[in-house]
Amino acid sequence: MAFLQRCSRAAFLLRRGRPFPLVRQASSLMDLPETHEMLRKTCRDFADNELAPVASMLDQEARYPAKQVKGMGDLGLMALTTSEKYGGTGMDYLAYAIAMEEISRGCASTGVVLSVNNSLFLGPLEKYGSDYLKETFIGPHVDGSRVGAFALSEPGNGSDAGAASTTARDDGDCWVLNGTKAWITNGFESTAAIVFATTDKSLQHKGISAFVVPKPTEGLTLGKLEKKLGIRASSTCNLIFEDCRIPKENLLGEPGQGFKIAMTVLDAGRIGIAGQAIGIAQAAYELAVRYAQERKAFNQPIAKMQTIQNKIADMACRIESSRLLTWKAAALKDSGRPHVKAAAMAKLTASETATFVSHQAIQVLGGMGYVQEMQAERHYRDARITEIYEGTSEIQRLVIAGQVLKEQNA
Ligand code: CAA
Repeated sequence: MAFLQRCSRAAFLLRRGRPFPLVRQASSLMDLPETHEMLRKTCRDFADNELAPVASMLDQEARYPAKQVKGMGDLGLMALTTSEKYGGTGMDYLAYAIAMEEISRGCASTGVVLSVNNSLFLGPLEKYGSDYLKETFIGPHVDGSRVGAFALSEPGNGSDAGAASTTARDDGDCWVLNGTKAWITNGFESTAAIVFATTDKSLQHKGISAFVVPKPTEGLTLGKLEKKLGIRASSTCNLIFEDCRIPKENLLGEPGQGFKIAMTVLDAGRIGIAGQAIGIAQAAYELAVRYAQERKAFNQPIAKMQTIQNKIADMACRIESSRLLTWKAAALKDSGRPHVKAAAMAKLTASETATFVSHQAIQVLGGMGYVQEMQAERHYRDARITEIYEGTSEIQRLVIAGQVLKEQNA
């Protein structure tokens, strides 16, 4: 009860529209502004009490965390970066990175639901949407009772996002969509999706536009639920469009602006996935450290052995450096400065850290790391996707190198 009261109070404060100081006003990078510390504590309590105890069950049953998502909505987390004007909490991307870390530390599946709704769905709606689109679609998706989705990838193109083959035909008072969108997180539960489709394939990426598609809609069917290695409690499925008619006013942004919208949205979204990866790594690390202090071998806790200490040190360094990179990317975005490179660096580093740390955690736990009982294996499985979605590690390297070369030639 005390926990619920604390959370309600935090949510109340978060929603009251107190000014949120920028990270640069903090005395050092390690001293978060008070509001962000409060947010971190609220998310940590929620993760410890509401997510961690059920994460394993949700994973094993591949069950969507509807109650937990509503709980996050009640705390103001599902629309954390959306303006208060539209019913959101109005916090910045530093706050978002912190929330993503803490929630994913408890349950990475729940983390990705939070991420898609905030940065891939509500984010572009608020930034590019007309008044009509904002009024129609933001309000119903801020409190966790409904979630949105983002449909960019296709069966034939994931990394090459500019090669979209789903078409949108202008038919007077509506657009007619045909094609298949693949790997759609929240695909099953979502009540609306931002969908990228081409109006003229010969224009390549310049022919792509973004559309807001309500769900269900006639002509839109769902593919099978994917059976996944990790983040099994979040749904992933195809969206199949067959002569799916949507109103003309559901175009998001300008015609032909879709690819740039997708890229800008992903630059922001990658900060959240970096946060998710750090949360997974942190959970695996805490488990490994605790276990190393309790487990005895050769007449001593294994934490006393240098070989285990080396692992703990490497894990701690990687987590801390990933967190700093992620906070830096968030701070750059929050202060309106270029953050393409920083977001890609944060996502690349944090996701590879999640893979490294969850691997090392299993090594520390040995056989106990390999069985479901201790959750290390779940962290290991959950970590893997962070190197794939919202741009693979290979794409992040491409983006980083592209930016470095551009800076060099400027
Ligand atoms: N911001 C704004 N504009 C950008 C941009 C950015 N970050 N990156 C590129 N652009 C612009 C370029 O300036 C260029 O503009 P002009 O046409 O005006 O010159 C245009 O976009 C094309 O740029 P490129 O030639 O660099 O584009 P490309 O075709 O070579 O692709 C890419 C670049 C980085 C590989 C891009 O396709 C990409 O990011 N691919 C990965 C896609 C991805 O992340 N998918 C994730 C799916 S969503 C998901 O995973 C959600 C989930 O489930 C959780």
